[in-house]
Amino acid sequence: MKTPKRHTITAALPYANGPLHLGHLAGVYISADIYARFFRSNGEDVAFICGSDEHGAAITLRAKKEGKSPKDIVDKYHFSNKDIFEKLGISFDIYDRTSSDHHHKTAQELFLQLEKKGAFVKKESEQYYDEEYKQFLADRYITGQCPKCDSKGAYGDQCEKCGSALSSLELINPVSTLSGKSPQLKSTTHWYLPLERHEKWLSDWMQKGTFNGRQVHDPKNWKNQVVGQCMSWIKGGLQPRAITRDLDWGVNVPVEDGEGKVLYVWFDAPIGYISATKKWAEEKGKNWEDYWKSKDTNLVHFLAKDNIVFHTIIFPAILSELDGYILPTNVPANEFLNLEGEKLSTSRNWAVWAKDYISEFPDQEDVLRYVLCSIAPENKDSDFSWKDFQARNNNELCSIFGNFVNRTLVLTKKYYNSVTPLRNELLEVDVELIKTIKKTPDNIAKAIHSFRFRDALIEAMKLARAGNKYLADTEPWKLIKTNPERVKTIMNISLQITANLAIIFEPFMPKKALDLAGLLNIKLPTWEQAGSDQLISSHHTINEPYILFQKIEDEKVEEQIEKLKNKGQKPSKFLPMKDEITFDEFSKMDLRVGTITAAEKVEKADKLLKLTVDTGIDIRTVVSGIAEHFKPDEVVGQKVSILMNLAPRKIRGVESQGMILMAETLEGELSFVSPTKEISSGNTIR
Ligand code: 2FM
Ligand code: ZN
Repeated sequence: MKTPKRHTITAALPYANGPLHLGHLAGVYISADIYARFFRSNGEDVAFICGSDEHGAAITLRAKKEGKSPKDIVDKYHFSNKDIFEKLGISFDIYDRTSSDHHHKTAQELFLQLEKKGAFVKKESEQYYDEEYKQFLADRYITGQCPKCDSKGAYGDQCEKCGSALSSLELINPVSTLSGKSPQLKSTTHWYLPLERHEKWLSDWMQKGTFNGRQVHDPKNWKNQVVGQCMSWIKGGLQPRAITRDLDWGVNVPVEDGEGKVLYVWFDAPIGYISATKKWAEEKGKNWEDYWKSKDTNLVHFLAKDNIVFHTIIFPAILSELDGYILPTNVPANEFLNLEGEKLSTSRNWAVWAKDYISEFPDQEDVLRYVLCSIAPENKDSDFSWKDFQARNNNELCSIFGNFVNRTLVLTKKYYNSVTPLRNELLEVDVELIKTIKKTPDNIAKAIHSFRFRDALIEAMKLARAGNKYLADTEPWKLIKTNPERVKTIMNISLQITANLAIIFEPFMPKKALDLAGLLNIKLPTWEQAGSDQLISSHHTINEPYILFQKIEDEKVEEQIEKLKNKGQKPSKFLPMKDEITFDEFSKMDLRVGTITAAEKVEKADKLLKLTVDTGIDIRTVVSGIAEHFKPDEVVGQKVSILMNLAPRKIRGVESQGMILMAETLEGELSFVSPTKEISSGNTIR
């Protein structure tokens, strides 16, 4: 199937709740930008759409954690992320935000259209409710044990350990992240998208590329893992999906009984692509409907693998119910990027932040783009390491690309006073090289059309390699003495290659491409001119040469590796360290040696023992959660560390005065930490 000449290219709207890191860039934005730039350079009509995803529990949780309002959070990250994308040359036509009025309006309009059409069902169901906070708990507000892999700390919508999609009702021992208590079930009404109605056509669309009897995409061009994930959902039987939530941050549900409810973030976020297109089209005097309703439009969603089902099942189901909307031609989702062999983790600070890279590697944004495209996790997870980053810069960009360009420019200056020489009769080696120049753009185009950006970059690099080899083999610096006429041909062809490199590298390294055009003293040619061996005319004067790529020294990468190790925490079998406290805070704690003199079970509480502890200065009661590990008579006589001045609190009706300290493994195994020699109760621990 031929790709149409109008492209609506979307990149997953990042949540405005944190800064961008290399995982985001390699997973979504670099590939999307290459795709958009490629079609623009081909003179085609492109709407490259992105913006901040500013709703959902990820935002409200972050706000709560920082003691700020959701609005403060999204304002901060929206602008800083927008700035980072700009600095990295990500060429969105619009970077919108979902908290904007125009987005709320579009999301509500589309909700109403669907509601009117009967595309939803309304259902009452039981959902978790936090009695203390008087609110229903969004999935992300509930954690518990994963029913699939048993690991603790799974969220109500997903287990990050095994990747399973979950419903909060499936979690074992659910706990509210607000109060830390187990939530209660309470009934509430919501709007659901009955996905089961869409099973049949989604399955045909996905596997055969047909919709309403028409061929709308080529399934062979879709990635296996995308089709695989989507089909495994469909085969598992699609369930109605709630598209509203009991929350106060988001797009209000615009019907009478929708009070106190908002649209589910995954309902409104992809609609953000549409509202952003509308805004952009309005500003540009274009018709937004061309980009969403025309069968001649190539709609492509770029995203990472955790977003696949939302873009291959839920959003298409929504689009199919709306009048006249097209479906995506492709959803070329990437896998994840690891860092130095470990899973990237923002909470453990095991990440390289885009903002840090930009400030520590000034004017080397394109080097990052180059490396991240070279290692993009296109079909499986891949790894970023600083040593590899250095090697790709030094051995590829500097030694091949940069070296070729620099030799070409310097020799042209030296031999011809920077004026392009006329070429003479071609030899076999020249003819072969001209063939390579000619076929390179097609090879790159083919790879980009099938979302193989790594291969596309390899093809582009092949031309730089060929140029470098050409100079190394022909050695014009030696020939100049014996055959100056031949050198003219060599240098002319080398300059044509250099101009071609500027064009074909533009999607990958846009700033360097412009620099290169500047060095050649030409306006950056478009893709339509790529492949020509006549881009630079004879007698054209080039500019003063300078080095395009700088070597990255060992110290620089060592510094980065050190920084990661110091700030980040590799996955560990221990809990991460807590935040720093002052000495004063520490010295407020009164810790002493105590002796357990009596112990009994607390009624109706399997985990609790009521202990009597002789602290040397008094005899007190301490309630402790150790009953599943020790029988009462096992602990009597045991010496313990006791925190004396912890405010008393009632546990199951018994006042606990202080707390005894135990060692605990991540699996929850307990052990007493005992003195190494006989020491009497009342002595302090400092
Ligand atoms: O996973 C995420 O970061 C989501 N904010 C992506 C949303 S994509 C789209 F639907 F807007
Ligand atoms: Zn799991």
